[in-house]
Amino acid sequence: MEVVKLDLNCIKNTYKKRPCDSHKGTHGHALLIAGSTDKMGATIIASRACLRSGVGLLTVVFYPENKSVLFNSIPEAMYANSCVISDSSPYQAIGIGPGIGVDEVSLQYIYELYENKLPVIFDADALNLIAKYKIDWKKFNFRFVLTPHLKEFDRLFGEHDSESERRTTAIQKAKDLNCVIVLKGHKTFITDGIHTFENTTGNSGLAKGGSGDALTGMITSFLAQGYTTLESAILGVYLHGLAADITLQTQSEESMLITDVIENIGLAFK
Ligand code: APR
Ligand code: MG
Repeated sequence: MEVVKLDLNCIKNTYKKRPCDSHKGTHGHALLIAGSTDKMGATIIASRACLRSGVGLLTVVFYPENKSVLFNSIPEAMYANSCVISDSSPYQAIGIGPGIGVDEVSLQYIYELYENKLPVIFDADALNLIAKYKIDWKKFNFRFVLTPHLKEFDRLFGEHDSESERRTTAIQKAKDLNCVIVLKGHKTFITDGIHTFENTTGNSGLAKGGSGDALTGMITSFLAQGYTTLESAILGVYLHGLAADITLQTQSEESMLITDVIENIGLAFK
């Protein structure tokens, strides 16, 4: 299978310009389940990256202890202190995982998704929960994206000796599970089991805790805006890396913070 280089041409073919007469409802309502009492940074990073990527509305699930910090850091978001998803929920997409932990409390979030019909991106601890509690993939009757780094990938699908073995498994699993898999790393690999892409943006300034949380927020945002799972993965991965490359104009790979990268998502869009 030919691996397509994920470059500006792919993005131009995927990106849809916002209509000038749009309103917030046009651009979707995302629900983010990220962070916990001692990992509030994950909530803030994922939320800010989601908001910087064009979503109309964002609701964030919060822990009461974090309330005032979150309200002050992300005034653009709305907040829910529980995660109940039903047919009458106002959301168009769900992002779950960064910093939520792998205990029985966060496991309830996964159970809550079972009857859901919205597209979901599973990242970080959501992937670890699926692996730890051996969640049956058949429970997921909705479109979904998985964004594992290599250790999370191996926890889900078994140990691999090389990147090329992981890519082969990713293609097979994406086909079997009818999902999109984003295998993150230096050259992030994206597949829906039929198409395969290798990202061309990004740098080692992203090799820091929190970078993945921002990607989750971005992909959630694109899903909520109505992009398909594959399109959302493509846009998120490319623009996340491009924002990091633009950040090199004012920071080094050493000094770059993911919050700097998020502030450059706008220039990446331009
Ligand atoms: N070149 C390009 N992109 C890179 C590079 C690199 N050298 N290094 C990292 N990246 C990108 C990856 O492609 C991915 O999009 O940065 C992001 C890193 O995501 P994660 O590995 O998920 O990292 P993150 O979640 O921010 O932090 C690690 O994962 O293992 C858990 O609990 C652990 O909190 C920790 C977290
Ligand atoms: Mg991560």
